[in-house]
Amino acid sequence: MIMSASGFPSLALGCFLLAVAVAPHVVHGLSRGLTPGGGAVAPSASAAGLCASGITIHGYQCQEFDVVTKDGYILSVQRIPEGRAGGGSTNKQPVFIQHGVLADGSAWLVNLPEQNLPLILADNGFDVWIANGRGTQFSRRHTSLSPANPEFWDWSWDELAAFDLPAVFDLIHGKTGKKVHYVGHSLGTTIALASLSEGKLVDKLQSVALLSPVAYLTHITTALGIVAARSFLGEVGSLIGLAEFNPVSKPVTDFLEALCARPGLDCYDFLTAFTGPNCCLNVSTADLFLTNYPQSTSMKNLVHLSQTVRDGGLTKYNYEIPSTNMMHYGDASPPVYNLSNIPHDVPMFLSYGGLDSLADPKDVQLLLDSLKLHDVEKLTVQFVKDYAHMDFLMGVNAKDIVYTQVLSFFKNQH
Ligand SMILES: *[C@@H]1O[C@H](CO)[C@@H](O)[C@H](O)[C@H]1NC(C)=O
Ligand SMILES: *[C@@H]1O[C@H](CO)[C@@H](O)[C@H](O)[C@H]1NC(C)=O
Repeated sequence: MIMSASGFPSLALGCFLLAVAVAPHVVHGLSRGLTPGGGAVAPSASAAGLCASGITIHGYQCQEFDVVTKDGYILSVQRIPEGRAGGGSTNKQPVFIQHGVLADGSAWLVNLPEQNLPLILADNGFDVWIANGRGTQFSRRHTSLSPANPEFWDWSWDELAAFDLPAVFDLIHGKTGKKVHYVGHSLGTTIALASLSEGKLVDKLQSVALLSPVAYLTHITTALGIVAARSFLGEVGSLIGLAEFNPVSKPVTDFLEALCARPGLDCYDFLTAFTGPNCCLNVSTADLFLTNYPQSTSMKNLVHLSQTVRDGGLTKYNYEIPSTNMMHYGDASPPVYNLSNIPHDVPMFLSYGGLDSLADPKDVQLLLDSLKLHDVEKLTVQFVKDYAHMDFLMGVNAKDIVYTQVLSFFKNQH
């Protein structure tokens, strides 16, 4: 496994439940104040804004946008309108880049510029838009609620699919007048599939690329994954009443400490045990990554993900009480996201890893089964034998293995 400079496992943060990775020894690393390396996002990213800290320092143009979701969240979006060599944004095809849970847009920018997906896309003639989900460092704003208010955190990935994605699609489509290519990692794939299955986004979508796709979590078999999921479903002592899951806050670090003290759980080796043995992370950028991560999410979101582990299917948030489900959904059980309803002619690229414990190959197979009615010529699947979950986001060779495939997939759509 890849170890960080100080000897603890580098953290995999594009994925969910992974907050449990923040074992006590790792938490110390988070506050250690690392010096940023040449290619990376400075730790002061929050103060500077992502354009300044991750994009213009590499010689690229960058524009910041705010977009308001239908339920009032104010999301920060960065646009890289052209490559380093210039060329303007006219007639370029827009690409929307969506991170996973406990991460934000800067997760795509931690490596050297020539290794980062957003900058590679910009240099290859695309108009690049990076989203930051609600609750993350650049998107902790709402038209009427403060993040200190528990109501601010009353959402799960249902709302990311229903409100965040459509808001960003509208912004991009409104500014460019063009249909949008989408690329997501981890939960960024789940919410796109969910949204598309409900007929959203389709009219503004050119194609969709899913890296480390997560729809089913049936095959999470690691002890830690299972205990973590169970914890979020009820035994969460120190977390009860908490609305925001902020991985560096005291209640959460206390919880993680207690969790990791359980017999049979090896948090030290967590990353490998939980996300899979990432082959290709850069030790020093992975270390730097720890200074910016993990980003907050809502407890409700982690509970929802844990329900997916428990229940197998892909459904909306389960309020666990039939009458409450009835109130929200008009049914005693939460509605299913039926992936067969994704229009069968949506061009789709899907890349998954043989060693990914979160997007386990068996679960990806279930996803592919549920897409079996999809037009064969519209579905491109790549299997990367040696890759685990985080390699798709920040593998030093992801450009050669995965991103070139994404580029040619996008370029082949008209
Ligand atoms: C790893 O990251 C460091 C710091 O950004 C950089 O100097 C080094 O060249 C990177 N190594 C690889 C293999 O990309
Ligand atoms: C999903 O939709 C397909 C086709 O529209 C239908 O045949 C199938 O029964 C649905 N599945 C569920 C679980 O509703």
